[in-house]
Amino acid sequence: MTDLLRTPAGWPSILLARTDGTAPAVPTDLDAAVAAGAFEGLRRAIRDLGPVATIALIDASGLRGRGGAGFPAGRKWRTAAATEAPRRYVVANGYGADPASHTDRALLMHNPWAVLEGIAIAAIAIDASEAFLAVRAEDSELLARVSAAVGSATETGFLGPDVLGSGRDVLLTVRPVQGAYMLGEETVLLKALEGKRGQPEQRPPHPAERGLDGMPTLVHNVQTLATVPWIVREGAEAFRATGSPDSPGTVLVQVRTSTGQGIAEVPLGTPLRDVLALGDGSSADRPLKAVLVGGPSGGLLPPDALDTAYDFVSLRAAGAHLGSGSLVAVEDGTDLVELVGVLTRFCSTEACGKTIPCRIGTKRLAELVGRREAGLSTPMDPQLATDLAADIVGSALCDHERLATLPLTSGMRYFASEFDPASRSQPAASEAPR
Ligand SMILES: Cc1cc2nc3c(=O)[nH]c(=O)nc-3n(C[C@H](O)[C@H](O)[C@H](O)COP(=O)(O)O)c2cc1C
Ligand code: SF4
Repeated sequence: MTDLLRTPAGWPSILLARTDGTAPAVPTDLDAAVAAGAFEGLRRAIRDLGPVATIALIDASGLRGRGGAGFPAGRKWRTAAATEAPRRYVVANGYGADPASHTDRALLMHNPWAVLEGIAIAAIAIDASEAFLAVRAEDSELLARVSAAVGSATETGFLGPDVLGSGRDVLLTVRPVQGAYMLGEETVLLKALEGKRGQPEQRPPHPAERGLDGMPTLVHNVQTLATVPWIVREGAEAFRATGSPDSPGTVLVQVRTSTGQGIAEVPLGTPLRDVLALGDGSSADRPLKAVLVGGPSGGLLPPDALDTAYDFVSLRAAGAHLGSGSLVAVEDGTDLVELVGVLTRFCSTEACGKTIPCRIGTKRLAELVGRREAGLSTPMDPQLATDLAADIVGSALCDHERLATLPLTSGMRYFASEFDPASRSQPAASEAPR
């Protein structure tokens, strides 16, 4: 399991409980979790709030989805609850599409109770009696952990029929799913849960209106759901006092530097510099060249952007995004063109192929970077790449198309000289491939 990093004692802990003010608590069983306050939020939602006030509370808290896009959770809850239908569902997205980021897995291993409690609160609020928790089929350790947690929570009456004597059922099923990168995208995940081959769907309608089996479905990342019990227990105002005004709360970040790596719970709005420092930052003999923020479709930012706040709005303005919660320190001496080549080829290979601008466009983009890597760029190539990236983004069917161009466009924006055809030696005419 990826190590959890120690965070400063003053930082809020919403997702991972602490024992001593600095170190996250060791995973324990349901009894220990209940003794520490787990499922108190569910009791309060049932006993004191009821569905309408619970949804109003989530709305007022300013909680944004942690799955990458940062969409306001309260708006989704309202839509799912208000859409007329014979039944509704909650789907917890614990797939963890980025193969190099294990933040959602860490949450499910260390604190599955918060995710289950969030699912129960959400299901009762939107009037869904069935819910699914999707995790990777190949991860047997995680499957065992969450299945045992669901089993004990059901035996104790926190899930299952007549939750805590409320007269409301929340039948939660753990669903192992197996597929490629695109399976993390919500409409693909819903198809997988229906047993169908998946490609993203055009929206609207959004899953909150028409999702699983055509019914209103609240799809949330597991971190989003795990934040809900804390909000219900402590209130919207307390939640808004954490993180940044526009992005309250905390998220899990997988930090990788030359000297250390691990996962930490970080208040949104923390400067990138301080998040990076949790992994020990960069050592004097290996200074920083760039940071890759957001996973394989993330943005490359220069060292002078380290004061950027780690939150949805600030990162987007800087040319990156929260994405899979991955933050990688790129050492001086790294060939950024080569790195962008690896990322762009990954994004191109993983594109599902449903829409032509993405299917063909990302391939052409990868070829342009490949030419640059081989020193074969023409003077027109940077402009060609810029125009092609804009065309790809402009015709996006799903977010992958919008983000797949980011490694290259952010690289060209901040490290233009490395992408300048004149700066890389061109092979002699006799060496050039014909
Ligand atoms: C290519 C791609 C991969 C994605 N992978 C994940 C993932 O692994 N986990 C996740 O929660 N959301 C992922 N998302 C985002 C989901 O589509 C969706 O927005 C999210 O699950 C909604 O939850 P939220 O409201 O809590 O953010 C992905 C999106 C795209 C375009
Ligand atoms: S934009 Fe790309 S990944 Fe998304 S549906 Fe179209 S081809 Fe598939």
